[in-house]
Amino acid sequence: MKHILSIADLSPDEVWRLIAEAGKHNREEVLKGRVLALLFEKPSLRTRVSFEVAMHQLGGWSLYLSPQEVGLGQREAIPDVARVLGRFVHGLVLRTFSQESLRFLAQHATIPVINGLSDEEHPCQALADLLTIYQKRGKLAGLTLAFIGDGNNVAHSLLLGCALMGLNFRMACPQGYEPQPLIVQRARALAAQSNCEVSFFLRPEEAVKGADVVYTDVWTSMGQEAEAEVRRHKFAHYQVNKELLSSATEAALFMHPLPAHHGEEIALGLLDHPQSVVFDQAENRLHVQRALLAELLAP
Ligand code: CP
Ligand code: NVA
Repeated sequence: MKHILSIADLSPDEVWRLIAEAGKHNREEVLKGRVLALLFEKPSLRTRVSFEVAMHQLGGWSLYLSPQEVGLGQREAIPDVARVLGRFVHGLVLRTFSQESLRFLAQHATIPVINGLSDEEHPCQALADLLTIYQKRGKLAGLTLAFIGDGNNVAHSLLLGCALMGLNFRMACPQGYEPQPLIVQRARALAAQSNCEVSFFLRPEEAVKGADVVYTDVWTSMGQEAEAEVRRHKFAHYQVNKELLSSATEAALFMHPLPAHHGEEIALGLLDHPQSVVFDQAENRLHVQRALLAELLAP
């Protein structure tokens, strides 16, 4: 049994195995009779639908638990929820706020726990991102990804994922919105092993220079809505638009995990830019998570 709370819980070999399996589109019913619970304390389109469809394609089934029903840590203590779920289902995807709650739950769980997004990380998104880059470019190591925007959950998993797989990671963000120092430290240690670089810039134009992938995410993540106005102001010069994209390498990929705020972190129409791969990226959530479920939940 293995929990996936961070992308760095996987080794490079394990990521390669998931990428290879995802590419096979294997739909054998290896999870017949297996049940996945999805406990989500924040809204979701892609994560919920892709996990539910993946379970169905593998012959298993899933059930969605809303926060009101479970009251994680409020109606019932986290260790008790973990131990009870282990008596009914074979795996749990948890979308929550604190990484601490996620770790605490996993400590007490007798079934694999997958991080379906926390304030700190979004490992399933990073797996789909790596799969997409590999499909489009035929390699990972040696490529350069530029992340423009907030040092949030998506940035953290991507930073660790790039460092794990040997992609150079360049990031531009306003002062005060950098990724967490401990995550940067961990990424630098991984990058030293995979022989790539992690670097930070204030100006987006500098970060995208020579990049093979230009990536952005919302300026205001779920749970930060009260800061939206301040963030709109702070990030005003960090929009990804056609001009910025054209300063990366020719035909650089444009990526975004979605949902997007059109006119904020991306210019209007950017999702339809010829270099945008965002919908393939979204579809890949399904393929890589199917591979992950087959690996973690098969009897
Ligand atoms: N990218 C992503 O995780 O989307 P959802 O929030 O809709 O699941
Ligand atoms: N950073 C965003 C990602 C959504 C998939 C959020 O946490 O809201």
